Amino acid sequence: MNSLFRAGKQVLQASGRAFSAAANPDRKVVVLGAAGGIGQPLSLLMKISPYVSELALYDIAGTPGVAADVGHINSKAKVKGYAGEENLGEALKGADLVIIPAGVPRKPGMTRDDLFKINAGIVKGLTKAIGEHCPGALINMISNPVNSTVPIAAETLKKLGVYNPSKLFGVTTLDVVRARTFYAEKKNLNVADVDVPVVGGHAGVTILPLFSQATPSVDLTPEEVDQLTKRTQDGGTEVVQAKAGKGSATLSMAYAGALFADACLRGLNGEANVFEYSYVESDVTELPFFSSKIKLGSEGVEEIYGLGELNDYEKAGVKAMIPELSSSIEKGIKFANEA
Ligand code: NAD
Ligand code: LMR
Repeated sequence: MNSLFRAGKQVLQASGRAFSAAANPDRKVVVLGAAGGIGQPLSLLMKISPYVSELALYDIAGTPGVAADVGHINSKAKVKGYAGEENLGEALKGADLVIIPAGVPRKPGMTRDDLFKINAGIVKGLTKAIGEHCPGALINMISNPVNSTVPIAAETLKKLGVYNPSKLFGVTTLDVVRARTFYAEKKNLNVADVDVPVVGGHAGVTILPLFSQATPSVDLTPEEVDQLTKRTQDGGTEVVQAKAGKGSATLSMAYAGALFADACLRGLNGEANVFEYSYVESDVTELPFFSSKIKLGSEGVEEIYGLGELNDYEKAGVKAMIPELSSSIEKGIKFANEA
C-alpha cells in the first residue's frame, strides 16, 4: 500500500479527530498554480499528507477560496492562500518543496510543445522567484512541456547561481501510473502489485514504458506490447480528447503529483529506499535530461539508475525519442538564456 493511500485511509479512519503525524519533521510545501484544474485536487491531497505541516497555495487569483476550503479539513497542515505576484515571495519563503502545475493545458489537436509559447515564460518567472526566495527547495515541475520546462528551470537557476541538479524534478509519475493501470487491465493482474518502468521524457514517443521489465512478469505478444506502449504514450491525448476542449488530465495528475511529492518528502525525512521515476539531469544517455528510476534522499536525487536490459523494441524506442527530446531540451535552454 503506498503511503498516500495509507495516509488517506488513516484520515478517514480518524473520523472527525485531527490526524496527527507528530513523528514527521515540519515541512513547508508550496503549490504554484493552486487554483487550477490540477492545483485544487493536488492541494487537497497535500493537505491530507502526513508529511506536510505548512501548505502555501499560490496562484495569480482564486487562492483565498481554495485555501479557505481546503483549510477546513482536519489534518495537520496549516494552509494559507496567496494571490498575485506581489505575494509570491512570501508564499515561497521557507519552502522545502515547491510543486508547479501553473500554466495552460492542451486542447484537442494540440501537442504539449504548442504550450511552450505561454508556459515557458510562466515557468521561467516562477523558477526565478524560487531561486530568489527558497533556493534550497526541491522543485516538482508539472507544467508542460515538461521536456522543455525542466531545462528552462535549470538554466534560470544557473543564472542565479543556485542550481542544484539533485533538487529539480520533471514529474513523469502519471506515465508510470497509466502504464501500471493499462498493463494490469490487459493481463487481469492486481494493479496494486504491478510495476512498470517508464523512461525518457513526457511527450509522445519520448514516453517509453519498458514492459520487458514490468512486474509481475507475464507473456505479452508483440502486438500487445505495441498497443500498451502506444496507449501509455497517448494517455494524455486520450484524456484531452475525452474532455473535448475542457483541458487535460487533472485528477489522475493530482494523484500522481501527490504520490511523487510524498516520495520527495519521505526522502527528505531520511526514509530509506524511496524509489520513483523522474525527468532529471542525467548521464544515462547522451542527453542532459532523461527520466529513469531514481532514489530519493535527504538532498533530493540520491542515485540515478540506468535503463537495465532493453529488448530490440525498447532499444528502437530509445533511439526514436532522442531527436525530439534533444530539440525540446535545446529549445528550453535557448529560451531561458534569451534576455
Ligand atoms: P489550469 O488552466 O486548470 O490551471 C492552471 C493554473 O495555473 C490556473 O489556475 C492559472 O491561474 C495558473 N497560473 C497561470 N499563470 C500562473 C502564474 N504565473 N503563476 C501562478 N499560477 C499561474 O491547467 P491544469 O489542467 O491544472 O494544467 C496545468 C499544467 O499542467 C498544464 O501545463 C498541463 O499541460 C500540465 N500537465 C502536466 C502533466 C504531467 O504529467 N506533467 C499532467 C497533466 C497536466
Ligand atoms: C498528460 O500526460 O496527461 C499531461 O501531460 C497533459 C497533456 O497535455 O496530455
